[in-house]
Amino acid sequence: MSGRVVIVTGASSGIGEATARAFSRAGDRVVLTARRVDRLQQIARELPESLVVTADLARPEQIKRVVEETLRCYGQIDVLVNNAGFGEHNWFDRSSEETLRRQIEVNLIAPILLTKAVLPAMIARRRGTIINVSSVAGRIGTPTLAVYSATKFGLDGFSEAVRREVLPLGIHVCVLSPGVVGGTEFGRERRVDLGLTSPPWLSVTPQRVAEEIVRLADRPRPRRILPGIYWLAVALNTFLPFLVDRSMARVVQKARTSS
Ligand SMILES: NC(=O)c1ccc[n+]([C@@H]2O[C@H](COP(=O)([O-])OP(=O)(O)OC[C@H]3O[C@@H](n4cnc5c(N)ncnc54)[C@H](OP(=O)(O)O)[C@@H]3O)[C@@H](O)[C@H]2O)c1
Repeated sequence: MSGRVVIVTGASSGIGEATARAFSRAGDRVVLTARRVDRLQQIARELPESLVVTADLARPEQIKRVVEETLRCYGQIDVLVNNAGFGEHNWFDRSSEETLRRQIEVNLIAPILLTKAVLPAMIARRRGTIINVSSVAGRIGTPTLAVYSATKFGLDGFSEAVRREVLPLGIHVCVLSPGVVGGTEFGRERRVDLGLTSPPWLSVTPQRVAEEIVRLADRPRPRRILPGIYWLAVALNTFLPFLVDRSMARVVQKARTSS
């Protein structure tokens, strides 16, 4: 399908940038939003019929503006990709209240408010797809990412509930949960390293995630985990949580004594 109007948040780097490019390649009109206007404009120059709306998603009035400007420019919204987000790697007891609140605002409150803002236009046309970029950390509580995990668990719960409300109105809500994605700016300010490295075959590229997002827009599914092998880890965490507790506690104890 092509010619859709697609809002991509966090389009200035990583998964968001790759997603904006992938939708544009498919012939869609992309609205790129994030805080860094220079990056957005640079990317938009390569994407025909795209629109840049700069916004700090921690500020509700700027969230409303993204939707208003999209509707003013194109008159419709077909797809919303809630991708913007960040995580602070730190021991929870050492993390600042300010960072904790900001993660909740950007990763959880912003996608909720954006969903609320796009729904009236989607419901009026009885069509639309909302794709929320969550994380495997939203299915498995992850040490050093406690608040990040909380935001992504929250996003999963919100998506499931609102999906059941709007599906009868012709609107799809999908959750995509990547594991480790290489080559993005995520975790650049990593402060605590648990010494865990993931094998290359467990890591995916932003382009691979972007392809999956476009596929979800074409054929909506309630949830996807990428790569699929992470379903095994999620199942283990659900049915044998004490095993995961024990192995993670060992890793944490070692990292705590050396940091
Ligand atoms: N990388 C991974 O391993 C991984 C794994 C699972 C899930 N994810 C999820 O994937 C999504 C994208 O992450 P990424 O890996 O592509 O990281 P990234 O390269 O750091 O991209 C994050 C994007 O979010 C935007 N953003 C951050 N704070 C914002 C704010 N206050 N207002 C507006 N935009 C904001 C950034 O743009 P500006 O700085 O220009 O505002 C940037 O475009 C996130 O939701 C992340 O949780 C990532």
